[in-house]
Amino acid sequence: MVVMTSHNNLVPVAVLGLGAMGRALAGAFLDAGHPTTVWNRSGGKGEDLVARGAVLARTAEEAVRSAELTVVCVVNYDASQAILEPLADALADRVLVNLTSGAPERVRTAADWAEQHGITYLDGAVMVPTPLVGGAQALILFAGARPVFEKYETTLKALAGQAAFLGEDHALAAVYDLSMLDLFYASMSGLVHAFALAREDNVAATALAPYLNTIAAILPDIASGMAAAIDAGDYDGQEANLSMMTASVDHLLHMSRDRGLDTGQLEAIKAVADRAIAKGHGADDWSSTIEVLKLKG
Ligand SMILES: NC(=O)c1ccc[n+]([C@@H]2O[C@H](COP(=O)([O-])OP(=O)(O)OC[C@H]3O[C@@H](n4cnc5c(N)ncnc54)[C@H](OP(=O)(O)O)[C@@H]3O)[C@@H](O)[C@H]2O)c1
Repeated sequence: MVVMTSHNNLVPVAVLGLGAMGRALAGAFLDAGHPTTVWNRSGGKGEDLVARGAVLARTAEEAVRSAELTVVCVVNYDASQAILEPLADALADRVLVNLTSGAPERVRTAADWAEQHGITYLDGAVMVPTPLVGGAQALILFAGARPVFEKYETTLKALAGQAAFLGEDHALAAVYDLSMLDLFYASMSGLVHAFALAREDNVAATALAPYLNTIAAILPDIASGMAAAIDAGDYDGQEANLSMMTASVDHLLHMSRDRGLDTGQLEAIKAVADRAIAKGHGADDWSSTIEVLKLKG
């Protein structure tokens, strides 16, 4: 493996892709003092990073060869593959960290490609928005060979105080990423629908928002309780049962229909709950609906 030294003994790094996230990652490396080379497919990006001490490479290969560890962070795996495939020789014996978001299958294909070319590969997923990158609260998930993660952990912590290693299966970061985004986007859609419902009865979003925090505040306890119930297959519903909660969904559907609002998400929620009740989970907790989510296989 190529080991390079810099004047300050920090690992020289390269960042390929200077979209919003790539720029934030490169900025975090610069803040931590890493010699940092950057590259982007289109010109006109990275001048601000150069002003902060980065070197702007003319080609992706030039960037990779200047560094011991290369981070690629672009829009998807088609894009990262297009960038990386011509760089197999330059990346051999170097470390590649792919922080592009994608499906687990694409990650495994990328990891197989890296292995075939002697490239040391870690995959990862950035779980915070760009302003948090580099900070103590920033979370980036990593997966791949544990010794490689441990060797470069200090370097990776320049990007995120919470650099979490999940395991040797490269796809794990993507599995966690997409599972977390599943919650995020369902919540985003529910949040907007809540504001829409309130607006129909002349309640301003800013008036409702402080009260929504009560719902947000109970979610961490619900998540840990539900996780334990699901892993144990024990869906005790004594505190709040699925039939009662499904009646609440009916109230929501009624009010939304009455005001002419889209009911797609609520109907999907109701359909899942009804299937679970039909299978005998009416007196169980909401977590029991996991038993009816799998539609085939
Ligand atoms: N932004 C966030 O808050 C955030 C948070 C968490 C995770 N992420 C993840 O970070 C990754 C990058 O997101 P971003 O916000 O930086 O996206 P972005 O601002 O839209 O930038 C996209 C980047 O991908 C490059 N790209 C697109 N197609 C390409 C291709 N065919 N070949 C080469 N380069 C290509 C773009 O290059 P050009 O400039 O040449 O088009 C640009 O560098 C995504 O996987 C995203 O899910 C982002």
